[in-house]
Amino acid sequence: MASIPESLHARLQNAAADDQELGIKQRFVEDASRAERFSIRHEQLYFDFSKTHISVELLELYSEYAEKIGFKGKQQELFQGALVNATEERPALHTLLRDPDNHGVALLDDQVAKQARDSLAQFKQSFERIQKNLGERATPVTDIIHIGIGGSSLGTQLLFEALRDFDETKRIHFIGNIDGHQLASVLSACKPESTLVIGVSKTFSTAETLQNIRSVGQWYEGNGGADFLQSVFAVTANANNAKQFGVPENNTVTFPEWVGGRYSVWSAVSLSAALVIGYQRFTEFLAGAAAMDEHFLNTPLENNLSFVAAAMDHYYCNYFSAGSRAIFAYDFRLRSLVDYLQQLETESNGKDRQVDGTQVDQLTSPVIWGGVGTNVQHSVFQMLHQGTSLIPAEFILVARPDHDLSSHHQELLANGLAQPAALLAGQNVDDIERQDRTKDLTELAINAKIFSGERPSTTILLESLTARSLGALLAYYEQRTYSFGVLCNINSFDQMGVELGKRLAKELQPMLSKNAENEPSSFDASTLRLIEEVISKG
Ligand code: F6P
Repeated sequence: MASIPESLHARLQNAAADDQELGIKQRFVEDASRAERFSIRHEQLYFDFSKTHISVELLELYSEYAEKIGFKGKQQELFQGALVNATEERPALHTLLRDPDNHGVALLDDQVAKQARDSLAQFKQSFERIQKNLGERATPVTDIIHIGIGGSSLGTQLLFEALRDFDETKRIHFIGNIDGHQLASVLSACKPESTLVIGVSKTFSTAETLQNIRSVGQWYEGNGGADFLQSVFAVTANANNAKQFGVPENNTVTFPEWVGGRYSVWSAVSLSAALVIGYQRFTEFLAGAAAMDEHFLNTPLENNLSFVAAAMDHYYCNYFSAGSRAIFAYDFRLRSLVDYLQQLETESNGKDRQVDGTQVDQLTSPVIWGGVGTNVQHSVFQMLHQGTSLIPAEFILVARPDHDLSSHHQELLANGLAQPAALLAGQNVDDIERQDRTKDLTELAINAKIFSGERPSTTILLESLTARSLGALLAYYEQRTYSFGVLCNINSFDQMGVELGKRLAKELQPMLSKNAENEPSSFDASTLRLIEEVISKG
């Protein structure tokens, strides 16, 4: 491996071979304090890594690796505003939005702290203005249509769903997809006079978003609403594009270019969610993240949450051939967390080039997937417990619910705690035979009931789901993603891999029209055949 020195690589291979042989359960037998030793507490969050193959020796190997690649310097570079996104020649300073004082790390360009402060101030002003305006409307606003895709929506949706009250008087409809089925269904439930429309796009050039805004405009004006462009709000890092689109300047809220799309939940991109949860809670969300950044910057690597998690991610990917990682939130309010993390991790680290442009020779992003407990237990958990792939799993539980159905919550938590225990423990023939009800089982049935166990998982326990704990959780994942990128020697902040498909879609779209006189094209024969099929059936 190019970025891992050969001798270290060999030692990590040996460690993996030993770990496979020893297993995780034996480590608990050998070390009575393992659960405590490999758990880390941060404010309201408790992270238990002990049901993974983590060990003091493994953390030492990864600390040595970190030392060799200058990991601490890379942490500083991120916060200093170095051009960590080298291909686009940009810093990635989303952390400044949660702490414009930047934890005392001196910025390379002192203007950017002002940009962060200004953008937060503008966000707050716009928030207050819109809120006041909503209060003065003759018809109360019941629906917000948030139009945006990817980073311009996933975080905001998560924030809204996680922190909204049970009161459903204000709904937010998140429109990302260009699929008219979604838009048509949302519009059928809204009325222009009680709807606020916010178009969110960092670039204000994303095809789906612009088309969706136009279509909402037609619906708005076609259903009695007056002058859509005067009432729509734009959130963007490209005020010029928003202006050219027709959104007036005083309806446009901007955020700095150095905030990456999938890192933009900390900015005015979250305007719609803030209008429901309140600005105060949005600032608590930022503060929770800032505290996690502080932990990331100042905690030695062996206790550093994001680093430890990233080291385990790297270890499982590269030394256990784990091609995926599963995340299960045992809290309905976190139902969009997996979608959010999927973009964060796979768009950041699904790369085959190192920072110097040469080919990567290790596994970068695992596939991130998962869902909400207990639903997933009745669908994908069969594979998790008895499938042939090793899938490191992550369980996110919330100790205190925000409802009174305490028996439900106890049962939910019991399930969320039992699953990782089962993944670890497994079940052998003796265990099966000890269970009375299974006494008369055939050998075939007994074999089918064997669980190998020894399947790694991490549990994250939140005391309660608050703006602060959510902020900390998301910042933990962001820094973990960055740390993993550093271990793989890749740029976690560009996303060139999404461009080719976009270009081809633009090229292909006119070919779908019935009357198109299609020129000879460079599309492959399969695609051309499919185009013909679509035209003939359309
Ligand atoms: O196509 C990928 C992407 O650029 C994401 O990185 C981004 O979050 C999303 O599209 C939306 O982009 P924008 O906010 O510019 O509309």
